[in-house]
Amino acid sequence: MSPEKLVKYAIEAQGNAKAKYSKFYVGCALLASDNQVFLGCNIESAAYPSTMCAERVAIYSAISQGVTDFKAIAIVSKLSAKPCGPCRQIIHEYLGGIPIYVSDGKTDKYETHFINDLLPFPFG
Ligand code: THU
Repeated sequence: MSPEKLVKYAIEAQGNAKAKYSKFYVGCALLASDNQVFLGCNIESAAYPSTMCAERVAIYSAISQGVTDFKAIAIVSKLSAKPCGPCRQIIHEYLGGIPIYVSDGKTDKYETHFINDLLPFPFG
């Protein structure tokens, strides 16, 4: 699947985000080696620390369904935000060196990153 198509899936997931406190809507699409796509969006709570990031919703969803091999991940937010620290750690542990496509979801443009660049000194 092309990066552009995976970004489109992430835009679809962004539409499901529940972000009434931050108004920062994030969508994620995780492409498994068997070509299944797992979507994630951020889900906020009035009990703020209960909020979960889009990336980890997608990753935990895939893993909980028994899928553990992945090809790529796309993340969409209005600022083309790179994953937060905890998500970087989880990406390092469970996704490894797959391409991380980041987009603002408005154009076809996307950036490509790798976890070694985003988290050069991982824990573990
Ligand atoms: N958020 C994500 O979904 N992924 C990240 O990597 C960083 C932050 C969400 C959490 C919260 O709902 C909102 O963005 C603002 O922090």
